[in-house]
Amino acid sequence: MIKSVNLDPWEQVAQHLGVDLYLDLQPDPSGSARWRGARRRQSLATALRASISDGRLAPGTRLPPYRSLAADLGLARGTVAAVYQELIAEGWLVARQGSGTHVADTPRPDLPKPMTRQRKTPDTVHDFGLGQPNSSLFPRTEWIAATRRAITAAPDRAFGPGDPQGSERLRVSLAGYLARARGVRTHPDDIVLTTSVMHALDLLSRSVFGDVLAVESHGLPFHRAVIERGGTVTTPVPIDNDGADIDQLPTDVSAVLLTPSHQFPTGVALSPPRRAAAIEWAGDHDGLIVEDDYDGELRYDREPVGALQALNPDAVIYTGSVSKSLSPAVRIAWLVLPPRLVDRVRAAKGPREPDASIIDQLVLAELIDSGAYDRHIRRSRQYYRRRRDHLTDAFARAGVTIPGIAAGLHAVIPLSAETEHVVFEAAARRRYALAAMSQYRHPHADGGSVVPPGLVVGFGTPAASTYHADVSALVSLVAEDAPNP
Ligand SMILES: Cc1ncc(COP(=O)(O)O)c(C=O)c1O
Repeated sequence: MIKSVNLDPWEQVAQHLGVDLYLDLQPDPSGSARWRGARRRQSLATALRASISDGRLAPGTRLPPYRSLAADLGLARGTVAAVYQELIAEGWLVARQGSGTHVADTPRPDLPKPMTRQRKTPDTVHDFGLGQPNSSLFPRTEWIAATRRAITAAPDRAFGPGDPQGSERLRVSLAGYLARARGVRTHPDDIVLTTSVMHALDLLSRSVFGDVLAVESHGLPFHRAVIERGGTVTTPVPIDNDGADIDQLPTDVSAVLLTPSHQFPTGVALSPPRRAAAIEWAGDHDGLIVEDDYDGELRYDREPVGALQALNPDAVIYTGSVSKSLSPAVRIAWLVLPPRLVDRVRAAKGPREPDASIIDQLVLAELIDSGAYDRHIRRSRQYYRRRRDHLTDAFARAGVTIPGIAAGLHAVIPLSAETEHVVFEAAARRRYALAAMSQYRHPHADGGSVVPPGLVVGFGTPAASTYHADVSALVSLVAEDAPNP
């Protein structure tokens, strides 16, 4: 007999598994009775994995036959069978001929222990943290000067409650900037300002996404988490050297989240045929593409790849922020929407701007309009190009080629699948802040992706005074712990 901690439909799961166990089941965030296949499957798989990994389902425990579990729970047999197969493939369960499905004797023997991304702590020695530019580059003088001008010129009404769509002045500036810098086609009325891309995804999951959203098989786990909290299940689409494999989009999805200019974390760009395929898919299926253009301006060797949004502004939602160009501390981001979606997203914010500082939005508008933002981007591009070159040269001398296009603020140091975990653990012991590719894998990604295992490092983060030493230390670490990567 199982006791469940949640009083939701999944309590039934707990009551029918036939062993004494608490299951930490995901409640239905929308409270809706419309539990679709993907959500059922994902919740059951997550609950079983959690029960096995924390020992509540002991090695060797026999699970009920999937047919009877499906009948007891009112689930499709195929759903339970698919979950059992998935957990067998992952090494959690084993099928024994004639005696059903059991918890493996050493669950997941072939997979490394879960790793958590190494964040910067006071003890960090080599800071290759992700998700931020170099702090010393923040244009303090220009920001202060822009603040003075923006506040002096702002009309009194600028200091009242904010429009949930965000400052009109910044929307006008951004519409112009995104058009000239990224090729985005929009009107200020079709922009909704947010505090971050994460906030933008949160708003979309509460207002636009349906039950299921396809996402790249490797991406930011906290982006998936915020989408799932809003009630949308994420399902992985494989990626390879051409970006997301659009032909493999599941048939039941009507929206997909992509990083077309610079796949995060592999660093590849969505190839021209795949860009065309994505736009065609949206046209044929009445589908939506969400384009996360998180570092589109930071491109070093090549002509910029323009925004996918320009190919069909009615089918693509474009999002970006200043987290990589200025600082994640500024908290300004944007959603460029097909006009038909603006009211829905705006309504999800409520009657007034609930989170963002309209004052800071005015300052950013002033920074853009004065040309200071463009100058800052050009300076940053040169700075990071030098850093990127130093990193690739240092690894090239050690015989390691860094894959991906020369863009953005992160790079992948390729390792074999076997050594990724070893080197990551060694890095953690020596107090590096960095990440491993496998940490970005969607839990349901089935191995159909072509993704280089390795370390994911933020090369913008280290201080200028230590950058060369940090890179040398990283090369030595990789050479010592993975001599033939
Ligand atoms: C893939 C990806 N998307 C978006 C962002 C921007 O995030 P935010 O605007 O939420 O700070 C980042 C920043 O690290 C990122 O890596």
